[in-house]
Amino acid sequence: MNGIARVISVTSGKGGVGKTTMTVNLAVCLARAGKSVLLLDADLGLANVDVMLGLAPHHTLNDVLEGRKNLGEILVSGPEGISIIPAASGVEEMGSLDTAKRMILMQEIEEIAHKFDYLLIDTSAGIGADVLYFNSASSEIVVVINDEPTSLTDAYALIKVLSQNYGEKSFSVLVNEVADAKTAITAFNRLNSAVERFLHVELRNLGFIPQDSAAAEAVRNQKALVEIYPSSPAALAFAALARKLDAEFYDLRVKGGMQFFFKQLLELSAHGN
Ligand SMILES: Nc1ncnc2c1ncn2[C@@H]1O[C@H](COP(=O)(O)OP(=O)(O)O)[C@@H](O)[C@H]1O
Ligand SMILES: [Mg+2]
Repeated sequence: MNGIARVISVTSGKGGVGKTTMTVNLAVCLARAGKSVLLLDADLGLANVDVMLGLAPHHTLNDVLEGRKNLGEILVSGPEGISIIPAASGVEEMGSLDTAKRMILMQEIEEIAHKFDYLLIDTSAGIGADVLYFNSASSEIVVVINDEPTSLTDAYALIKVLSQNYGEKSFSVLVNEVADAKTAITAFNRLNSAVERFLHVELRNLGFIPQDSAAAEAVRNQKALVEIYPSSPAALAFAALARKLDAEFYDLRVKGGMQFFFKQLLELSAHGN
């Protein structure tokens, strides 16, 4: 079961809304369902997948960028056998890397991603060059929001840049850390009505993850929530989300994930980004 990875980036306008929580737990749930999963920690400013999972990588993306290692040599293994590409904190932004370096890195990612069913990319927040780059390179973008007004306005700003400057026309939205379904729907509708009115893009509602103290507790224990508190409300919601996404898996494979990934990168490079 491999060949063309389905590439999903997890992103947000505002920080601290639950991107890493979502990526890590989705990865573990997909692995449990028998899929091979590669998780790229692309939050280059604030790498934290390894911290969240209590891993101590000897090497990071930094070693790849500086030519000391190839990607295969820096992979770390996580819960349920997921593979992780750890990012070094404080690495130069991808946006400031020259085209040649970026191409080498992306070629390596593409090569290795062929060995997996899923490539999940945990990006940083905001509209920095690296975020835009990873999002436009992936074939599906999940924007994580919560019900705070700033998370909505920042998500709107991100969607605007990705649609107007990078031609992205569809996004999935996950509402995290909310009290109930009603709050989640209100938050989604708020974002959706602004987007429908001013941008020509389509938002798909992926549902919500409830606010759950077990999420922070899992971070304190440096374990994935779905591992340590599998029956907590948020863990159950992540498991359901993984099932929902994975149910679409076969359709999407026909369209092809990674080929698209690389094609996008070539176009981006051609535009000098
Ligand atoms: N559904 C949730 N309920 C309660 N706390 C959550 C939830 N999701 C995330 N958190 C907490 O919010 C904080 C930020 O989450 P994180 O995934 O690191 O966000 P990001 O990667 O977007 O910066 C963490 O301490 C995490 O435990
Ligand atoms: Mg994060």
